[in-house]
This record gives sequence, structure tokens and C-alpha cells, in this order.
Amino acid sequence: MESARISTGIPGLDAMLNGGLIPGRTYLVKGAPGTGKTTLAMHFAMAGIANGENVLYVTLEEPADNLRADMTKMGFNLRDPRFTLIDATPAAERYVLVDDFFESFAKNIERMTEAIKQQLRTRHYTRIILDPITMLKLTATKEIEYRRAFLAFIKTMMRMKTTVLLTSELQRTDIEEYLVSGVIELEAFEIDGRLSRGIKITKFRGSGFDGTIRPYEITDRGIVIYNDRVVSLP
Ligand SMILES: Nc1ncnc2c1ncn2[C@@H]1O[C@H](COP(=O)(O)OP(=O)(O)OP(=O)(O)O)[C@@H](O)[C@H]1O
Ligand SMILES: [Mg+2]
Repeated sequence: MESARISTGIPGLDAMLNGGLIPGRTYLVKGAPGTGKTTLAMHFAMAGIANGENVLYVTLEEPADNLRADMTKMGFNLRDPRFTLIDATPAAERYVLVDDFFESFAKNIERMTEAIKQQLRTRHYTRIILDPITMLKLTATKEIEYRRAFLAFIKTMMRMKTTVLLTSELQRTDIEEYLVSGVIELEAFEIDGRLSRGIKITKFRGSGFDGTIRPYEITDRGIVIYNDRVVSLP
């Protein structure tokens, strides 16, 4: 039996995913700086809000005020009471003794899992976004420990029936790619001196998917994916 799907908030991406994401799993969106990871994550968040869900968005590098300003410009309504935005970027003042959210979300993956569990006790979030997880990875001292902690995090989220979207700017193949249920890659190319963008799905456990790189644009209304076209190379 085909499992139920949830929308990413981007019709072209849902089509590429054969209907959408399988809920209760953890997914990774990777791409170079400025490729639209945060925008894609916000579509996913707002699709949850439109569906009557509670959504938790943890921003780890872009300050919440900037994120709010940029995303509001694209027409996203971040004011919905079911949307929670946590700023886990380091405090501007170095002398701040306990930088609460930074300490609990960005210090390491174990602390972050605890902090999220804490949040889930106050409210049942069915979608959680961590944007990006790059820092968490870099703070890990041993790869084996990171892998173990990352898997524990995925299992916890699965038990909580929460769909998680992680973003990462790392370009090489990383451990996370093996551990998550799906990977979406955003790429920028130059064609005839013009910036061109392409999106591809490299992995989607439990489902078929469109394996073609499809062109996309970032517009003043967010990401638009042309899932019926191919990226034209020179
Ligand atoms: N109205 C718009 N029209 C076209 N492009 C836009 C528009 N608004 C923003 N952009 C582009 O979207 C990109 C930023 O998207 P976003 O912040 O989602 O990327 P990101 O991958 O999260 O970046 P970072 O790695 O810096 O976090 C920028 O390259 C910006 O120029
Ligand atoms: Mg971003």
C-alpha cells in the first residue's frame, strides 16, 4: 500500500517526490550558499501551517530578524501562532554568560535532541526544521560519536512522529546522507554566463522519485520548480 504523503509546499517538488514526503522521517536539503535552502525549508514549514500543524523552525546561522524580513518579503506569513521560530545563532555579545538557545541547540547533537524533546513536551510539533546543521557537525569531535548521536536523533523524531527537514551547506558526501530518509540537492550552474539553477533528488527511501535534475527559480514568491523541463546545458 502506498503510504500517505505530506506536501513540501512546492508543487513541482511534490511531483518529483511522487506526491510528497513520507511523514515521520528525517530529510536533508543540501546546497551551496544562496541556492535557496532556507526558502525551500520555509515552504515546507508553511505547508505544515496551511495543513493545521504546529511547526518549529530553528535557525542556527541566519539571525531570526533577518530570516523574518527576507521570508516576509517572499510572501510567507511567519506570524501564525502555530509557527515557532527559535534563534539559536550565537549572541552578538561575547560576554553573555549563558547563551541559552545557542547552548542548547548548536552546542552538539545530543544537547539539541534534548532541547527538541523539551520543546515537544510543551507542544506537539509535526514538522521541525534545523537550518543549517553544519555547525553541529563541526563541533563533533569523533565521527563515530556523531553518527551514533545523529541516528539517535532520527529515531527520537520518528518516535515522536515528527517530520524533520535539515539543511546543510556541505558539498561532499556526508554521513548524514546515509542516515536520513531522503536527500534533495540544490545546484547553481553557469550557462552562457547566466546563473541557472537545478534541483535533484538523490535518495528517497520507501518511494520512487523523479531522478532528473529539474530547473528551478527563486522568485519574489519563493521557489518555483519546473518539473516538466530539463536543465539545458550548453
Ligand atoms: N525576489 C527574489 N528574486 C530572485 N532571487 C531572490 C529573491 N529573493 C531572494 N532571492 C535569492 O535567493 C537566495 C537566498 O535564498 P536562501 O536564503 O533560501 O538560500 P540559502 O541556500 O539558505 O543561503 P545560505 O547558504 O546563505 O543560508 C539568494 O541567492 C537571493 O539572491
Ligand atoms: Mg540559509
